[in-house]
Amino acid sequence: MVKIKVPATTANIGPGFDTLGLALNLFQTITIEKKESKEKEIIWPDEVLVSNQENLVIKALEHALALKNQSDLGYTLTMLSTEIPISRGLGSSAAAIVSGLYAANYLLGYVFSQQELINIATALEGHPDNVTPAILGNLVIASSIHNEVIHASVPFPNDLELVVLVPNFKLNTSESREILPKTYTKEQCVSNISRVSLLIHSLLTKDYTHLKIALNDFIHQPYRFTIIDDSQLLIDELVASQAYGYFLSGAGPTIIAIIDKGLIGFQKSINILDKGFQHHWQILTIDVNKSGAIVEVIK
Ligand code: HSE
Repeated sequence: MVKIKVPATTANIGPGFDTLGLALNLFQTITIEKKESKEKEIIWPDEVLVSNQENLVIKALEHALALKNQSDLGYTLTMLSTEIPISRGLGSSAAAIVSGLYAANYLLGYVFSQQELINIATALEGHPDNVTPAILGNLVIASSIHNEVIHASVPFPNDLELVVLVPNFKLNTSESREILPKTYTKEQCVSNISRVSLLIHSLLTKDYTHLKIALNDFIHQPYRFTIIDDSQLLIDELVASQAYGYFLSGAGPTIIAIIDKGLIGFQKSINILDKGFQHHWQILTIDVNKSGAIVEVIK
């Protein structure tokens, strides 16, 4: 039997739409064990979040078994815990897909390489920027070219910290993608190219002079913030704060601020309780995950 732990992820990081993703230390954890029979036993925690049919762990697992004509394999799959909030832009579906693929790979005797798992996960998710850091950890630049994901890792600076603001409402990725324009002007494209170039330079050199500007985006955030309650109030707070900048986490609605590690009093400084917010926003400090998905043999 193995235990599989897959991290949450935040995609885009401002201007890197469908390209940049960063792994976070919040995990989806499952165990998987082979059965001699063809029975597929699924064990859930007390709180059932979605039905087995809808469950992406099972869908991805069965998809990978089918790719190798091994759909008859029996197993016991236990959903141990899901710390990743669902439909909040923190990569819960990517973590579920990666968990399922890793489970299948264990059952199949590790027939898929890491690169093949990244390619299959991307095909299932539709974009590479959550699944690739979920597998590799850290900050990843990922691009899907003719069904092959090209990726490069960038170490996220240890002197920065992420403050993650998670609201108590959900936003579906599909809804949040549908509202985006079909075309963009040359100016919008150039603006994003310059910002994402500055962002990577800033993170690689740890020179944060341009980090605030580097997090600007013209491709998705301005459209998405219009459908996220409280976002403008929250942005006003973050702009007035000591944060280097902020970005929408994936398709939203979570918003993440980047601050100097250990900046004292930051959470108190963004006083969201007395400012007429419609929803409750949880404020979490979450470390960047450096390991990516982990498979641990247990007895
Ligand atoms: N890059 C994707 C998007 C991430 O912004 O729609 C979704 O999690």
